Amino acid sequence: MAKKLYIKTYGCQMNVYDSARMADVLAPLGYGPAETPAEADMVILNTCHIREKASEKVFSELGRLKVAREERRAAGGDMIIAVAGCVAQAEGAEILRRAPAVDIVLGPQTYHRLPEMVARASRAASRDAKGRGILDTEFPAESKFDHLPAPSETGAASAFLAIQEGCDKFCSFCVVPYTRGAEFSRPVAQIEAEARRLVASGAREITLLGQNVNAYHGQAPTGAPNGAEWGLARLVRHLAERVDGLLRIRYTTSHPRDMDDDLIAAHGELPQLMPFLHLPVQSASDRILEAMNRQHRIAHFHDIVGRLRATRPDIALSSDFIVGFPGEGEADFQQTMDLVEEIGFAQAFSFKYSARPGTPAALMENQVPEDVKDERLQRLQAVLNRQQTEFNRGMIGRVLPVLLEKPGKHPGQIVGRSPYLQAVHCQADAAEIGRVVDLRIDGIGHFSLSGTPVESSAHPEAAYPQEAVA
Ligand code: SAH
Ligand code: SF4
Ligand code: F3S
Repeated sequence: MAKKLYIKTYGCQMNVYDSARMADVLAPLGYGPAETPAEADMVILNTCHIREKASEKVFSELGRLKVAREERRAAGGDMIIAVAGCVAQAEGAEILRRAPAVDIVLGPQTYHRLPEMVARASRAASRDAKGRGILDTEFPAESKFDHLPAPSETGAASAFLAIQEGCDKFCSFCVVPYTRGAEFSRPVAQIEAEARRLVASGAREITLLGQNVNAYHGQAPTGAPNGAEWGLARLVRHLAERVDGLLRIRYTTSHPRDMDDDLIAAHGELPQLMPFLHLPVQSASDRILEAMNRQHRIAHFHDIVGRLRATRPDIALSSDFIVGFPGEGEADFQQTMDLVEEIGFAQAFSFKYSARPGTPAALMENQVPEDVKDERLQRLQAVLNRQQTEFNRGMIGRVLPVLLEKPGKHPGQIVGRSPYLQAVHCQADAAEIGRVVDLRIDGIGHFSLSGTPVESSAHPEAAYPQEAVA
């Protein structure tokens, strides 16, 4: 009998990718998508542990799910409740203790075991003596990528492809090395096969994902010397050359330490590699970077940006910032403000430092008061928002190649992305979805652009990336 699955995803793009893969694993068991949790036979919360706020959301959501399940039971149905992702990995046992309604808790490395866990959770006797649900530590952690089925054919014009997972950097504020484990890179051949499949099902753009994507070092394909490994630049070149129909390649998230010469050069050489880079800097104070264990100085960040811009003058930059890291004084913060003014970001994410249990920075003594963090965040965001608006305004009157991705909110509206990752709205036929069309930008809204298709495009679609470089 057909069953319905609802997955709620928090956190980063890796979680978005993983949620799709969990749906793929459960499809052979008869699970199809549900519109709402209330109508679902199974609900998975794919959680994020990065900041306190993100983590705490899980428990309030679990409270609501418990009520929804009681209603379903009263009507003769049922609901399996699972918690996946980084909170599950970090606080698995705690979740089962605090929320006994949860049937299954599983971290990012055991998603391929979901069918077994679901089969067990469906049996009444699956709970332990205390009535608690299943914890995935009973299952061996393996490389899930070797066991997950090939991604289902969604037909999406833009797709994510995880190529690397985990992190060995241990920035002193960050939970990722604990929740995602040690850095691991998928073999090139596996990635190429997945990319081909995505393109065959309609993808024109692929975003290569990893918590530390530019630290990628995967097993080279057959033909290369035994044991050889390729870095990210080599992989991107390979995909650009070998996967016909793949028009756009992006990658995220990168660390400044791993931004090597080859990768910088690739931005100037490969028309498929989009002129946009998300490169988290966190702070511009060397003292704070040191305390964060970022393992580089701010001069290095300036150097990378200088070389990227020399290679690809129109490259748009994005970053992540943390304000109020322990010990951050006004002078340190001012250095960050100065960096922002100097570099100019097309977009950026900024956060108040959030002390995470188990990380070294949480134990540092010189924590910054909440009101100081609030005030700094407001100042930083005011500049970043202004820069984003200016960047977008600079597009007015220009013709940009836009990959049309999906219908917009209004009738006849289609939403796509510019090479610089800006959302662009236009009026176009739904049949155009999946194509790159030239749009003349004629308006800007809140963090998006609007454009009008340019009649009789001067250059063929396949050649558009060269156009973007010019
Ligand atoms: N791998 C990426 C980032 C992963 S987390 C990198 O190396 O930069 C995404 C962003 O969340 C980080 O860049 C950082 O800005 C923010 N972040 C991580 N831990 C945080 C914490 N404890 N408090 C506030 N922000 C945090
Ligand atoms: Fe976290 Fe630092 Fe690793 Fe990024 S590089 S995931 S911020 S530990
Ligand atoms: Fe959050 Fe885990 Fe991603 S903590 S940001 S979901 S790697």
